[in-house]
Amino acid sequence: MKVLVTGGAGYIGSHMVKLLLASGIDVVVMDDLSGGFRDAVVGGEFVVGDVGDRAQVERVLRQGRFDSIIHFASFIQVGESVAEPAKYYRNNLTGTLSLLDAAVACGVRHFVFSSSAAIFGEPKFTPIAEDHPAQPLSPYGFSKLAVERVLADYDRAYGLRSVCLRYFNAAGADPEGLLGERHEPETHLIPLILRAAGVSSAHVKVFGDDYRTPDGTCVRDYVHVTDLCQAHALALDWLERKKPSVAFNLGNGSGFSVNEVIATARRVTNLPINVQVAARRTGDPAVLVADSAAARRDLGWAPQYDSLETIVQHAWTWEKKRRQDLINRSAGITKKI
Ligand code: UFG
Repeated sequence: MKVLVTGGAGYIGSHMVKLLLASGIDVVVMDDLSGGFRDAVVGGEFVVGDVGDRAQVERVLRQGRFDSIIHFASFIQVGESVAEPAKYYRNNLTGTLSLLDAAVACGVRHFVFSSSAAIFGEPKFTPIAEDHPAQPLSPYGFSKLAVERVLADYDRAYGLRSVCLRYFNAAGADPEGLLGERHEPETHLIPLILRAAGVSSAHVKVFGDDYRTPDGTCVRDYVHVTDLCQAHALALDWLERKKPSVAFNLGNGSGFSVNEVIATARRVTNLPINVQVAARRTGDPAVLVADSAAARRDLGWAPQYDSLETIVQHAWTWEKKRRQDLINRSAGITKKI
């Protein structure tokens, strides 16, 4: 099997590349390195490029017989998408349209798409199953929902079958310690908490403690990045078995509050973590928890790392490596001077 992975130098994409290679699949990665890192791609062929560059994508796709595309490449900051919608619609929506047209033109039959819980907007009920109304609150969420609709139409019209995977809160790191979460700037809760662990001059901000939740802080469904990647592998298998286009919600089905995540990080690291309560972040729903019964039943998805403790433990191993890299780099610079 040959697979094109867009965004394969990013957080989830790089873990996916590792998993595909371990399964003996032929992988080509395309990433424009706007958010990803070349050294996060552990193997396969690497092409620096933008998914919206149709000529380049077609050149790549015509080099071999690609069975599938797994499309991770996208901008991901909800707040930024409100301030700069053009950036999000251009990349996440028109860039994806161009990629899809190239896929159809080159005879690719299967497409796995990184969608998001952000398509649902403010939950009407929880846990959130696939039939929950989709009313996104941000251009980011709308760009993901729009691609889902496009994919349904492209199947009907052009026979491109797809699986949309709506991630809740992707978290954790490669259990073997080779890869982890690297965003610049980092906006996600777990890496920010761990960066503050044991650093007396740092603190983590808790965005609001007056939500209608048991401890007043927001509740989220954290799902291990390796388990998310397993779901993509099962989605490829689903498409290979000629099953219909479909969308699945991916989470563990358990919600943890921001305060509970901080408490878990204190236990795992055994270090003090300073906390400051700050104002609510615009657009944050109080509770987001997935009902992933459909993915478990239909794909046979069985998350392996479903305890928050394990997720934070793996993220902590990665954070310690990041700290060591920073020390090594600054030592190198000092030596040169
Ligand atoms: N939070 C803090 N302090 C921080 C960062 C986050 O209190 O410094 C809180 C947030 O308010 C939220 C929770 O921690 O309640 C998790 O926040 P993240 O930014 O880690 O994740 P989000 O739930 O906002 O977003 C994630 C993905 C998005 C996706 C969304 C869908 O990052 O791409 O889930 O639900 F759109």
